[in-house]
Amino acid sequence: MNSLTVKNLLKDNPSSQKVFIEGWVKTFRANRFISLNDGSCSENIQCVVDFENTDQEILSKISTGASLRIEGTLVESQGKGQKSEIKVDKIIILGECDMNSYPIQPKKHSLEFLRENAHLRVRTNTFSSIMRVRSNLSFAIHKYFKEKGFFYVNTPIITGSDAEGAGEMFKVTTLEIEKTPLNNKNKIDYEQDFFGKETNLTVSGQLEAESLAMGLGKVYTFGPTFRAENSNTSRHLAEFWMIEPEMAFYDLEDNMELAEEFIKSVIKDLINECPEDLEYLNKRLLDEDKSKPMNERNELNLLDRLNFVVNNDFKKITYTEAFEILKNSKPNKKKKFKYPILEWGVDLQSEHERFLVEKHFKKPVIIYDYPAKIKAFYMRMNEDGKTVKAMDILFPGIGEIVGGSQREERLDVLKARIKDLNIEEKELWWYLDLRKYGTVKHSGFGLGLERLILFATGMSNIRDVIPFPRTPKSAEF
Ligand code: 4AD
Ligand code: MG
Repeated sequence: MNSLTVKNLLKDNPSSQKVFIEGWVKTFRANRFISLNDGSCSENIQCVVDFENTDQEILSKISTGASLRIEGTLVESQGKGQKSEIKVDKIIILGECDMNSYPIQPKKHSLEFLRENAHLRVRTNTFSSIMRVRSNLSFAIHKYFKEKGFFYVNTPIITGSDAEGAGEMFKVTTLEIEKTPLNNKNKIDYEQDFFGKETNLTVSGQLEAESLAMGLGKVYTFGPTFRAENSNTSRHLAEFWMIEPEMAFYDLEDNMELAEEFIKSVIKDLINECPEDLEYLNKRLLDEDKSKPMNERNELNLLDRLNFVVNNDFKKITYTEAFEILKNSKPNKKKKFKYPILEWGVDLQSEHERFLVEKHFKKPVIIYDYPAKIKAFYMRMNEDGKTVKAMDILFPGIGEIVGGSQREERLDVLKARIKDLNIEEKELWWYLDLRKYGTVKHSGFGLGLERLILFATGMSNIRDVIPFPRTPKSAEF
């Protein structure tokens, strides 16, 4: 007897072969038709029960959510909508499901409700599709870099440095919070802490990735990152996954080219690997759109949007060009932006990014050469002394999906920047060493995995594309 997945069974040509399958009941109709799903794909297999010859007690235990092992024969389907079905010989109840209390009823649930039941939401079609997309994208990312000759490196999760200099870190300590020891300056005495110094969860593996690129050439990290920014938005998580490639000998131009090719490649891969899940998510989105006013509906459906990104060049503009467009834009003149664009050097907010991408260019946009003032210390200073070789990639519906730069490889310039920003030079002694011993031009970027999944699935809240989201005041499960 063959144990198969629903995915394989549905591909098979039915020829009365004996099979068994294990999964969860989606629906049970007329005491005869069991729709079974095992997570292998979005579709279910229909199992037809011989009502007369089946123990009534067993039938009474079959309900939505119950887990079963079904043995039977794979035959051509009598009904419409599927090629094959299982004619059931034997049912074994693996786990009953109390329908009175089971939160996932066979009906439409709100995304908010499912977030409160995140431990069970993967049993719904929407969330199993999202998680399969997430898995496939992750794999496509590793595949892309392997084919490009990159090495996968693991950078520390516990670190002593604040790579982004934004101070949004979670502390890691074994000191007792109520009785933290103080030193002679009346400050917490971290020398008594586990690592003998102040440590945090990493906000980025970049600095360590730079060290590895200086010997391996091209590397990438793919790991969890933590940010204690108190932004309760649909785009921010306190714990998210970031992919950070770092390349020796690459300048900003090479970096932008790689990032664009990379994103296109993994989305193309996804379109090939997950057609059913994308089709399902596409339908979900069309349904959702129907309840929205005309002007808020998506212009392109999900699949068209993915294909559009794969087939069109991203628009590249400097910060200064973006600033001019925004400054002269209708919403800015009519004071529609919450943060008006007045003076060169202001940071771009999500409303500005979305205006450029969704209204002005109507395609992904790469903005580069940002004012040094609003960017991190490690970015390479341009000749003008005002801007740095930074780049952000902005996506429709998402805003920033990638942030990256060419790194400052000149020791003296880097030291001056660190001093300007009041960063402790001695904390970065090892990072500065990289500029002393065989320094080279190099570049890299960070892609937020969940932001990519938002785009790929058409979901609108980042809490719905990671299994167990961590956000301010929420760390359940
Ligand atoms: O722009 P960021 O802060 O860049 C860095 O961390 C660099 N060290 C990357 C590098 O050059 N190696 O973050 C990179 C990306 C953002 O563009 C966004 O996609 C994602 O990480 N991101 C978040 N995703 C979810 N929740 C958050 N709180 C995020 N913060 C950043
Ligand atoms: Mg950024």
